Amino acid sequence: MSQNIEYMKTVVLIIGANGQLGSVLTEALKQKFGNSNVIASDLRAREGYKDTFEIIDATDIDRIQEVVVQYKVTQIYHLAAILSAKGEETPLQTWDINMKTLFNVLEVCRKNNIEKVFFPSSIAVFGEGAPLENTPNNAYLDPATVYGISKAAGENWAQYYFLRYGLDVRSIRYPGVIGYQSLPGGGTTDYAVDIYHKAVLEEKFNCFLKEDATLPMIFMDDAIRATLELMDAPKEDIMTRTSYNIAGISFSPAEVVAEIRKLYPDFEVKYDPDFRQEIASRWPNSIDDSAATKDWGWKPEFDLESITTTMIQKLKAKYKKGSKNLETLML
Ligand code: SER
Repeated sequence: MSQNIEYMKTVVLIIGANGQLGSVLTEALKQKFGNSNVIASDLRAREGYKDTFEIIDATDIDRIQEVVVQYKVTQIYHLAAILSAKGEETPLQTWDINMKTLFNVLEVCRKNNIEKVFFPSSIAVFGEGAPLENTPNNAYLDPATVYGISKAAGENWAQYYFLRYGLDVRSIRYPGVIGYQSLPGGGTTDYAVDIYHKAVLEEKFNCFLKEDATLPMIFMDDAIRATLELMDAPKEDIMTRTSYNIAGISFSPAEVVAEIRKLYPDFEVKYDPDFRQEIASRWPNSIDDSAATKDWGWKPEFDLESITTTMIQKLKAKYKKGSKNLETLML
């Protein structure tokens, strides 16, 4: 009996815990399951991190297995990946890393009877074949970045492990994530975080997208809540085993600039689109998330105005306390 109780205790492993989403999700999972039941891991240790942290290179399956056995892990959140813009620098290496780490996680989960696995997908799975407005969950997928290709393939592998082995893999296609707690790296939607830093620092912003490049975005708090709600939903309610669309809000650089100028009327922006504009032009303008709403009750809370006021208020406080070194702004 006591063995059974011990087995049922939830112990979470986060792979990619130093990243934009990983660092915030780690704190949310600690609140939910208790500090000692959450194992953060990444390629490098995180300075100042006080709870359990393991160095894991997720391309090394033996290392993942070792940590899973050591801590009797019952759930894995696999967040490590090379994002859309960065991935284009080294396409084959990006494919190798994104797929190898996913296969390693899926195999360790299968062999160790892991209870639940979370695999993040992205709006990057969509391409020219999908409608730009209200892109449905089951739209045609023809991604044009190696990151998008790896996520589309990953979604199918997630479903395969569910169908073939009964592994409870759950997934969300995140829009661009906007948060003040951490910094993104290598994404096409990253401008929407950077722009708030520049506004608060009262610096000019050079935008690598065109002013009318509308993309689906989501505030960090909504993105984290969506993840927890999906992972909490009863297994039988999860009808989509590839990945769920979730919407937050959609806006263009011009719209976020207009919102920022309500608080910083002199905020200066120069539009200088680069290859990331090409990537953005193939992604949806807006997302139909009715499947997530129907299956597990998804509903976003933050709109552009509340995102803007929260980002500016929180970043102002951080910059007041710290230096201009962005790394010190991490959690
Ligand atoms: N934010 C990601 C990117 O821009 C999309 O998932 O690459």
